[in-house]
Amino acid sequence: MNMSDVNPVNPIQWFPGHMAKTRRIIAENLSQVDIVFELLDARAVISSRNPEIKRLTAGKPVLTLLNKSDLADSAVNKKWLEYFKSAGEYALLVDCKNFSGINNIYPEVKKILSEKLERYKNKGMSGRRLRAMILGIPNVGKSSLLNKLCGASKAKVEDRPGVTLRKQWVSANIGLDLLDMPGVLWPKFESEQVGLNLAFIGSIKDDILDSHENAAKLCGVLRRKYPEQLSARYKLADLPEDCGDYDIFERIARSRGFIISGGEIDDERCAKTILTEFRAAKIGRVSLEVPGDMGYAEENLY
Ligand code: G4P
Repeated sequence: MNMSDVNPVNPIQWFPGHMAKTRRIIAENLSQVDIVFELLDARAVISSRNPEIKRLTAGKPVLTLLNKSDLADSAVNKKWLEYFKSAGEYALLVDCKNFSGINNIYPEVKKILSEKLERYKNKGMSGRRLRAMILGIPNVGKSSLLNKLCGASKAKVEDRPGVTLRKQWVSANIGLDLLDMPGVLWPKFESEQVGLNLAFIGSIKDDILDSHENAAKLCGVLRRKYPEQLSARYKLADLPEDCGDYDIFERIARSRGFIISGGEIDDERCAKTILTEFRAAKIGRVSLEVPGDMGYAEENLY
């Protein structure tokens, strides 16, 4: 199956169960939380955002956390922060792998909720702990954030529909309580590019896609956006201007020796290598999206 088979209006076919389950989690708990942490992937900020987030959170303050910032281009990370700021939204860069930016979360929450905290103080309730819930699409780092904030292996987000988990509040080491049940949001495929970006970052499982076609498309994207990093990683000096995506893919296969009997390219091995190396930033820190380049999908965010 390839990306052109994606039905843009029917994410249920890709994320069965998530919509109903997340709606239920949100509906049952929204009134109990002071703030929602919306987790996005810093490499694909627009594609990893569910455009319904505003409606789903019904006016609750939202702090957007751009996770995996260690894998994204640091200059582009800064642009995204400016983008959110100019849209009047709250956003922070975080990196759950290396615990970077995590300590900025609580001060930011206090800033966002300053009026509420002032009211509590005036009522003699200044010791009241704040509560938050985490929402985000698959693989964006929800469990990692929960574990980092709670200091122990608390939860692996259950992606299977119909699984009832016991809800509990866990005490986060930054000074607030978190719902021990992050909501798994479904992404929205406004365009083929959104679907591809989600596949590149691993939020759509490789086994339901044509990984070979996607890896070739990723080569094309990297060629356009990060040509030097691509050439350096795969020793692709002197790529012709008109080199197509699959040409690049083939050159990588040959330079790595991914050849099977008869001189054929081992497509599967090459695709797996390219996708794995991209996701681990072996090619270098890469941002697939820059503010202003996602057209329709971006315009529909707010
Ligand atoms: P989810 O609950 O939203 O589905 O995501 P989860 O926390 O399971 O994270 C998905 C993968 O992303 C994990 O890697 C995790 O380690 C990695 N990850 C999460 N946050 C960050 C980050 O800020 N930076 C980097 N570089 N990686 C991050 P995995 O390979 O699937 O599992 P693991 O073996 O690393 O645990």
